[in-house]
Amino acid sequence: MASVWTETAEIPSYDALDADVSCDVVVVGGGWIGLTTALLLAQEGAGVVVIEGGRIARRTSGNTTGKVTSQHGAIYAALRDRHGDDVPRLYADTNQNAVTQVAALVDRLGIECQLSRTPSYVYTTDPTTSLRDEAQTAASLGLPAQLVDGQEVGVPAVAAVRFDDQLQLHPVRYLAGLARALVDAGGRIYEQSRAMSIDDTDGGVEVKVASGNVVRARHAVTATLLPIGTIGGYFARTAPEQSHGIAVRLPVEAPTGMAISVDAPVRSTRPWPGGGPTGLIVVGSGHKVGRADDTRAAYQALVDWVGSTWNFDAQPEFRWSAHDYASADLLPYVGRAPGNEGILIATGMHKWGLSNGTAAAGVLRDLILGRDNPAAALYDAGRIGDARSVAAMIKTNLEVGKEFATGHAARILTTGLDHLEVGEGGLYNRDGRTVGAYCDQDGELHTVKPVCTHLGCSLSWNQADTTWDCSCHGSRFSPDGSVLDGPATRPLDTD
Ligand SMILES: Cc1cc2nc3c(=O)[nH]c(=O)nc-3n(C[C@H](O)[C@H](O)[C@H](O)COP(=O)(O)OP(=O)(O)OC[C@H]3O[C@@H](n4cnc5c(N)ncnc54)[C@H](O)[C@@H]3O)c2cc1C
Ligand code: FES
Repeated sequence: MASVWTETAEIPSYDALDADVSCDVVVVGGGWIGLTTALLLAQEGAGVVVIEGGRIARRTSGNTTGKVTSQHGAIYAALRDRHGDDVPRLYADTNQNAVTQVAALVDRLGIECQLSRTPSYVYTTDPTTSLRDEAQTAASLGLPAQLVDGQEVGVPAVAAVRFDDQLQLHPVRYLAGLARALVDAGGRIYEQSRAMSIDDTDGGVEVKVASGNVVRARHAVTATLLPIGTIGGYFARTAPEQSHGIAVRLPVEAPTGMAISVDAPVRSTRPWPGGGPTGLIVVGSGHKVGRADDTRAAYQALVDWVGSTWNFDAQPEFRWSAHDYASADLLPYVGRAPGNEGILIATGMHKWGLSNGTAAAGVLRDLILGRDNPAAALYDAGRIGDARSVAAMIKTNLEVGKEFATGHAARILTTGLDHLEVGEGGLYNRDGRTVGAYCDQDGELHTVKPVCTHLGCSLSWNQADTTWDCSCHGSRFSPDGSVLDGPATRPLDTD
């Protein structure tokens, strides 16, 4: 399913890599973080090559809500409780500066990306929940925050924290603008060129691409949402969380600000500029990748919420999903991967990677160029974390271990493959073996071995998005087995 953003942008396309190349910095991944990092480095005169496994701006960054804000839910009180006073201050400054930086890039590069400045709200629908602490903490950090009445938000709410002067934009048009600027600055982009491995070599790094070609560079930036393979062990330090989105026209004018609830189930809203004055985007129904019983219900929950909130029969015109990774201590990991001197990473953005990811790009550039950057300590890629973080990581990994051990046992369908309808997929028992099967719109059957090529976990069928999803570390595959999202790099075996 394509998002409202990827369907409404002209995205430049680039050839696949068909020769060995050398450069100063190879950036693996053409999403928000990869393209921003590549551009910042190219603007400093570095020779940059971007290697993208699919097409640029099509994965998580092409399926986001498009809010560029320093308001990340009710994070500031939580950061203070967890880390003391310095971390929330640095986080606030870093993300507010990133908002300014995105606006400046749009202005300087002349990118047409429907950018607008609006308030951003985090709100509650529960009269017993107080947002006063969050409002006071954020204001004390110098953020443009205040506690306001829930009526201001435009969706049912009893109270909210308003941040003034935040940004919303069309993320894919923005990224298309960055890609064009990167090429103008001398950078090279190769699409359909999946990196299979990234290794330190004497004095540099080597990236092996699926075509068999090699990119040699002094530094590699792994901007693949989660580092591929086992680089840095980040697959064991983060959890993959999927959310769903819809774009819909309301029977009345849509709220003009951005909003997100603190209460579960989380609802994140913003205007849909392409939908006119009544257009609204709603994102939510989050769950761990591969762990929803039926992903169609996740979309339906958003449609039902819109219908009951505005009292009409809501008919979404776009729907999509994506995932992002969360660390146990609320902070992203950005910097040099432990044990891999030439490889830099950025991951764990907690679904706030447009501002954090912009700041991450600045950190990566400065680490490569040997400059100081205050956010480098905030995002320290080598940290282990406090006792609470370690306990959370152990819990996540125990769940992964359980999934690894029990696998498909509870999910195999007993009906035969002959009964598979067009557009339907799932796990089937064929001659005593479990196969993953999907019948495409032309009636052609695709069968795969439903075992993740990252570390061997069992895959779940996602009927709403027609993908094979791995609940262990978030890899996703097409029905034919090709990789959509890592950390896996190899396609599924066919069966
Ligand atoms: C539903 C949803 C809504 C969100 N809304 C917001 C929001 O409003 N504001 C906000 O700040 N954040 C938001 N986020 C978070 C934000 O979108 C992400 O943090 C950010 O897009 C991550 O960017 P990225 O470049 O790391 O990842 P991606 O955009 O996924 O880019 C990674 C790229 O690497 C490529 N790749 C992967 N493996 C390989 C390989 N082996 N070789 C080559 N290329 C490879 C992929 O194809 C992809 O293009 C949201 C997240 C979700 C899930
Ligand atoms: S993503 Fe790690 S085993 Fe599937």
